[in-house]
Amino acid sequence: MSRPTLGHLDPEFLRMMDELKEHLRYAFRTSNEATLAVSGPGSVGMECCFVNLVEPGDKVIVARNGVFGGRMIENVERCGGSPIVVEAEWGRPVDPARVEEALDANPDAKIVALVHAETSTGARSDVEAIAAAARSRDCLTIVDAVTSLGGIPVEVDAWGLDAVYSGSQKCLSCTPGLSPVTFSDRAVEAIRGRSSKVRSWFLDMNLVFAYWGSGEGKRAYHHTAPIHALYGLHEALTILREEGLERAWARHALHHRALRAGVEAMGLRFVVDEEWRLPQLNAVRIPEGVEDAAVRARLLADHGIEIGAGLGALAGKVWRVGLMGHSSRRRNVLLFLGALDEILRGAGASVEHGVAVEAATSVYSRS
Ligand SMILES: Cc1ncc(COP(=O)(O)O)c(C=O)c1O
Repeated sequence: MSRPTLGHLDPEFLRMMDELKEHLRYAFRTSNEATLAVSGPGSVGMECCFVNLVEPGDKVIVARNGVFGGRMIENVERCGGSPIVVEAEWGRPVDPARVEEALDANPDAKIVALVHAETSTGARSDVEAIAAAARSRDCLTIVDAVTSLGGIPVEVDAWGLDAVYSGSQKCLSCTPGLSPVTFSDRAVEAIRGRSSKVRSWFLDMNLVFAYWGSGEGKRAYHHTAPIHALYGLHEALTILREEGLERAWARHALHHRALRAGVEAMGLRFVVDEEWRLPQLNAVRIPEGVEDAAVRARLLADHGIEIGAGLGALAGKVWRVGLMGHSSRRRNVLLFLGALDEILRGAGASVEHGVAVEAATSVYSRS
C-alpha cells in the first residue's frame, strides 16, 4: 500500500483491477461479471445495493434480527421503497418460514433482504433457504455478507443470490474503506431496466460498471479510485487464495472451538445456539456483577486486546469477541483467555479460574 500511486486509468492499474475482480469472484464463489469493490466501507456497499435495486414504491421484505437488519430498513425507506419487516429475536437466525409467509402475503414484493452474519449478535441465518424461497417467487435478494465473507461459506452462485456486499476489514483482514459487491445478471438487468434514475450519482452502478468493465481502452473515468486501498485488497485476496477458502473456513471453525472450550470451561455462556453461531463473532454473556466497560478497558490497556461491546438490545449484556481473518489464530485465542481469566479473577467474578487456557489447548492437541 506504500507503493507509488498509479493513475486510475494507468494500464498497469487496470490490469490489477481485472485481477482483483477475479479474486473477488473467487471469494464470493461466483462467475458474475458485475463483481467489484465499491469505494467506501461496508455501509456504502449496503447503500449501493439498495439504491440501485429499490425504486420508489417498491415493496422490500427485510428480515431483522439485529442492528444491521435495521439499517436495511432505513435504506429501503430512504430509497422511497416500502419495507415489510420480518422480525426475529436478537441472537436467533431469521426464520425462513416467516420470510415465506411474508412472500405469500405480499406477492408483489420485489426484493428480499437479509444479513447473513449479524455482527451485533453473532448469529448466522440460512441464506440458502431464504434465497430459494425468494427465487421461487421471482423475487430478487440483497444479502449482507460483511462479516461472513472469508470466514464461513458464502455461495453466491450455488445459492442464487442477486446482490451481495461485504467489507474489506472483517474476515478479509484488509484495511477498512472498500466494499466488495457482486450482482447477478438478473440484478444487472433490473438496474439497467429501472424506470427512474438511481438516486445516487456516485453509487449508480450503470456508471460505476463503465469504470470497472473489462478490456483496456473501454473504461471511462467515473471517480478517482482509492488506488492504495485497492492495492491492499488485491494483496489481502491473494493471501486468501494462497490459503484457500475452504482452509480459511476450517481455520475459523477450529479457533472458535478452542475459544468456546475456554469460555465454557470458565462457566460463561454464548448468546447464540451452536448451530447458528458465527465462528468469527463470539458473543458471550457478561457474568453477573461484572462491569462491562472496566473489563474491556483492562483488556485493551494491559494486554492490547480490543473486544466489542454489546450493541442495541444487547448493550451492557454481552461481549463480542472477534476471531476474523488474520486474527483467527491460536496465539490470540490463548492470549485472550489468559487475559480474561486474570481480569475476572481481579474483579472477583464467580467463574472457574485457571481452566480456560487448558481447555482451549486440549482442543488444539486433538485437532
Ligand atoms: C453485518 C454488517 N453490515 C454492515 C456493516 C457496516 O460496515 P462498515 O462499518 O464497514 O461501514 C457492518 C459493520 O460492522 C456489519 O457488521
